[in-house]
Amino acid sequence: MNDRVNSLGFTHRYLAPSDPGTKDTLLLLHGTGGDENDLLDVGQMLWPEAGRLSPRGKVMENGMARFFRRLAEGVFDVDDLIRRTDELAEFVGAAAALYRFDPQRVIAVGYSNGANIAASTLLLRSIILSKAILFHPMVPLVPESLPDLNGRAVFIGAGRRDPIAVPDQSEQLAQLLARTGADVTIHWENGGHALARGEVEAAREWLRQLAS
Ligand code: MLT
Repeated sequence: MNDRVNSLGFTHRYLAPSDPGTKDTLLLLHGTGGDENDLLDVGQMLWPEAGRLSPRGKVMENGMARFFRRLAEGVFDVDDLIRRTDELAEFVGAAAALYRFDPQRVIAVGYSNGANIAASTLLLRSIILSKAILFHPMVPLVPESLPDLNGRAVFIGAGRRDPIAVPDQSEQLAQLLARTGADVTIHWENGGHALARGEVEAAREWLRQLAS
């Protein structure tokens, strides 16, 4: 019943925790051209017992869904990004009330465009995220004042040959987040922009260690 509903302003899927004792929810944010189904299996690999909330980005670019507008490859419409970040944060809060999960225990898991809006959410609306896993992110924006992310942990998965989220961007984002006090782990794969199994496994291990 909670599956693939078009309510709360976003087409989305919500899968309740398979173990009711698990209070964490993975917020799954797909890449450009993806949809709400894309990262369900990744979420399952990362933490099989956790709840999964997976919205579809509302911005269409040549028929491909995204989470915010861009003016060109790697050139973001920052006003739209800020507005969409707020909209996503409102959605997460409303979904938490509807599905009765703890809004303080939401872990963002984003890939590419989804990682970029997850990073933007950390920087602008950090209150809604307890941790974040960012696969192939860029620096989405630099806020005028940095939030205090002390006590928050962020995992970045990056590719040494990534032509889109180039290594320098991943490094810069790691540095920016470290300046907020966040505990940042960066994991390198040798490949390009595609999501590699190795980085998902490394993120799973990272989550396990934080939970233990
Ligand atoms: C973005 O637009 O968010 C990044 O360039 C990644 C992508 O979606 O291609």
